[in-house]
Amino acid sequence: MASKMWAGRFSKEVDEKVNDFNSSISFDARMYRHDIQGSIAHATMLGECGIIDISESKSIIEGLKKILLDIDNGDLHFDPNAEDIHMFIEEELTQRLGSAGKRLHTARSRNDQVALDIRLYLRDEVKEIIGLVDELIETIVVLAEKNLTTVMPGYTHLQRAQPITFAHHVMAYAQMLLRDKGRLVDTAKRMNALPLGSCALAGTTYPIDRELVKDILGFDEVMLNSLDGVSDRDFCIELASAISILMMHLSRFSEEIVLWCSWEFKFIELDDAYATGSSIMPQKKNPDITELIRGKTGRVYGDLNTLLTMMKGLSLAYNKDMQEDKEAIFDSVDTVKLCLSTFIPMLSTMNVNAENMRNAAAKGFINATDCADYLVKKGLPFRDAYKITGTLVAVCIEKGLILENLPIDEYKKQSDIFDSDVYEAISLDTCVMQRKSQGGPAPESVMEQIKYVKEKLNG
Ligand code: ARG
Repeated sequence: MASKMWAGRFSKEVDEKVNDFNSSISFDARMYRHDIQGSIAHATMLGECGIIDISESKSIIEGLKKILLDIDNGDLHFDPNAEDIHMFIEEELTQRLGSAGKRLHTARSRNDQVALDIRLYLRDEVKEIIGLVDELIETIVVLAEKNLTTVMPGYTHLQRAQPITFAHHVMAYAQMLLRDKGRLVDTAKRMNALPLGSCALAGTTYPIDRELVKDILGFDEVMLNSLDGVSDRDFCIELASAISILMMHLSRFSEEIVLWCSWEFKFIELDDAYATGSSIMPQKKNPDITELIRGKTGRVYGDLNTLLTMMKGLSLAYNKDMQEDKEAIFDSVDTVKLCLSTFIPMLSTMNVNAENMRNAAAKGFINATDCADYLVKKGLPFRDAYKITGTLVAVCIEKGLILENLPIDEYKKQSDIFDSDVYEAISLDTCVMQRKSQGGPAPESVMEQIKYVKEKLNG
């Protein structure tokens, strides 16, 4: 093992177990591209400001670009004994360039370097996640457009409540996902500030130009307190929290799909490519993807908890505890991307069984509210109408009928306001088509929702 950068201060090599324990390269190596991007910006600034020779700055930049190429091509492998990705790249550069390489770390600390790398890395990841959320919303919109008149029961307490359409139901998720996107966009905005130049914790005496580095790296602002710059991880927590809420939404949707796939519902059928069989029960077709998403939501909440707990007792500024941030936030990011990219094609290929949805909506006196509303529209106070309808439901249950086929004289026995137009008023189609209130299930209302969502997506 090569001796450590900081070996001068020590009289012994570090214990091998401690080295392994301390090392983060197994999980931070994935930031190599961003580490190099940050180092190139730093070296450029050092050269521009005359802190190092411009020729040395240039050779550092060339050296870093070559290292990037070699890693990308598989010609350079990460050393598992390196302390972290930052040390690995710097050591490699020094090996290749000699003394010029040793100048790269002037006016910089790994503390501000790692803070920079995570921001650069997550900034790219958030963009990808937002892209996937957009794609999911678009998939939902397509599904909704095909099912504007697909009547299904709407539920409360998982009891059939009132008729809605499948379009209306899935568009609820489009709204949630739009808010998820908003949270991700906000997080990305706040994350886009430059910590580099904070150095170890107290800035530097070198005449650095942080504004220049900020512009090279495309940050919106420079972090204005060096202690904060190196010790803040709230951007990770914010992202983990936005991802947790997004996962919670995916998990609810997944739970519904699990239910809808069951024989008890049979509202949808998953494409064979997105379902799995059982090793013993030949008849089984399991919605494993959705169950896994539901399960993985727990693990993402765990990541958020890890981050919150890891940070809560840390004195300023950097503490090694913070090295634990990466596995947690990387896991959240990987998990949500995996879930979204599997969920999207599963959703776009699933088959909707409109007939079963409609049959389910035709049972369970889902139009009882509409029957009461019929009386209200003819002048009765709602509470009286509610009571009469309750009695009618009881009559139906006793006779094994539903409101649609209960004879008119039975209606009239409860109230002489009833007329044969009641059948039209309580027909499933009327119940749905007349719910035209803003945000309601009538196709024209859902079309408004779709329009809004599309505008938001393009805006
Ligand atoms: N690998 C470390 C991390 O991920 C880098 C920062 C190390 N700084 C230090 N002073 N030991 O947090």
